[in-house]
Amino acid sequence: MNLRLKLFLPMALVFTGLMGYLVIVWLPSVEKYQVEMFHRQQERATASLVQSLLPMVAAQQLGDIHDTLDSLRRENPEWVEVELTDSRNRRLYPLPGTAKVASGPGERLQEHALRLGNDSLGILRVRISEAALLESLHQARQALLGALGLGLAASFFLLGLVLDLTVRRPVQRLAQAAHALKEGGFHAALPPPGRDEVGDLVVSFTAMRDQVRLSQSRLEQEVAERREAEEHVRQLNAGLETRIREEVERSRQKDHILIQQSRLAAMGEMVHNIAHQWRQPLNALGLLVRNLKDDYDYGELTAERLDQTVNDTLRLLQRMSTTVDDFREFFRPDKEKADFDVAEAVRQALFIIQGALKNYSIAVDEELPPQIVAEGFPSQFAQAVLNILMNAKEAIQERHVADGSIRIRLTREGGQALVSIEDNGGGIPAEALPRIFDPYFTTKDKGSGIGLYMTKMIVEKNMDGSVTAANTDRGARFTLALPLSSLLAGNGRA
Ligand SMILES: Nc1ncnc2c1ncn2[C@@H]1O[C@H](COP(=O)(O)OP(=O)(O)OP(=O)(O)O)[C@@H](O)[C@H]1O
Ligand SMILES: [Mg+2]
Repeated sequence: MNLRLKLFLPMALVFTGLMGYLVIVWLPSVEKYQVEMFHRQQERATASLVQSLLPMVAAQQLGDIHDTLDSLRRENPEWVEVELTDSRNRRLYPLPGTAKVASGPGERLQEHALRLGNDSLGILRVRISEAALLESLHQARQALLGALGLGLAASFFLLGLVLDLTVRRPVQRLAQAAHALKEGGFHAALPPPGRDEVGDLVVSFTAMRDQVRLSQSRLEQEVAERREAEEHVRQLNAGLETRIREEVERSRQKDHILIQQSRLAAMGEMVHNIAHQWRQPLNALGLLVRNLKDDYDYGELTAERLDQTVNDTLRLLQRMSTTVDDFREFFRPDKEKADFDVAEAVRQALFIIQGALKNYSIAVDEELPPQIVAEGFPSQFAQAVLNILMNAKEAIQERHVADGSIRIRLTREGGQALVSIEDNGGGIPAEALPRIFDPYFTTKDKGSGIGLYMTKMIVEKNMDGSVTAANTDRGARFTLALPLSSLLAGNGRA
């Protein structure tokens, strides 16, 4: 139902109700009252007529009676019939023989006795017709209803017009503006703000629309800023990506250099060791050569003796050559991941450093059970162990520990091979402990700080294992964990 209908319906109801009340209740009661008044008035008129007729009837002045009644009849057309009879019921008026007027609807008969003291002089009968009254009442009713109807219709129309102009149209325009607002239009025309409730509504709507427009422009600005920021971030990211790639490449090169440096350190160890390993065979060779010369000088050089010396020399040279081969083996790079015996790899590391350890009288207490097989790069792992062993040796050496010792244990635990290397070199300083695996962190004058960093990289990055360090009451303990090879039955998880 639209607003026009909603405004019209109550007015139509009020109009109909009012008209209904007028026609059904008010007008009939007014008319009834009018009729009663009319009859009362007629009653009074006939009563006073009786009083004026009394002397005429008493004096038998028929002429006067007729004149009076004729003139009265003329004056009162509603008096349909007037009859006056004397005490003996003889008709005095109208003249006997005059035809009786037929009685019609809406007529009333008034009878008045003419009395003089106790004597009855006659009876006056007046038949009064309501027709004229009813007719005039009818006309009045028509006029009244017409006027009322017209008045009501006019006010109805006016009210409708006022409501239409002041309520329906502004509300309709507001609705159109609201609809436009929904579609994002902020410029739909609004009705002029009046001083009534609709005017308040227009003012509120305008304020709300301004607010929405403000919020929207703020939002648009925010979106634009965010987009700009996103673009900025995207560009940054793009730049960052290249930088990360460059950094990764640089760090790979650095790692490469680190590995080289670390290997150089190991090579130093190796040269040391070769020197140690060769010292005894070199002495032996010197002795053999000197004996050869003595035998020759004293003429005791037999073919047999020469053979013996040559054989011994070759044997010693073979031993020296094997030593070099062993070292070369250690430095051969791993090509790809393989299953390897962990004890064997630890022994390789020990082999490289054993010369130095002997030099400083550092005892090695090892328990390296066979058949604990891990998956990874054995040479790299040996290098990782070697770095730890070198640190242990250096710690013992630095603190001048008299009975230096390194304890090595290999166990199998929870699907992992655990290698624990413990020294009695006094331990890692507490403030250094959290940083020892950082690259270039060193507490030594000639240290480069890459040994443990290398170890961590090899074990954790390349072999999915872990390296941890802790202090014991005598020194430091490093624990290396490697995932066991899943292929070998011998690796049954302990
Ligand atoms: N067994 C240990 N006992 C005491 N301190 C240790 C031990 N192992 C490592 N550290 C400490 O950790 C530091 C870092 O060791 P890392 O092997 O990384 O470097 P570095 O030994 O100083 O130098 P290099 O590069 O020659 O190995 C050492 O400087 C030392 O302070
Ligand atoms: Mg080191």
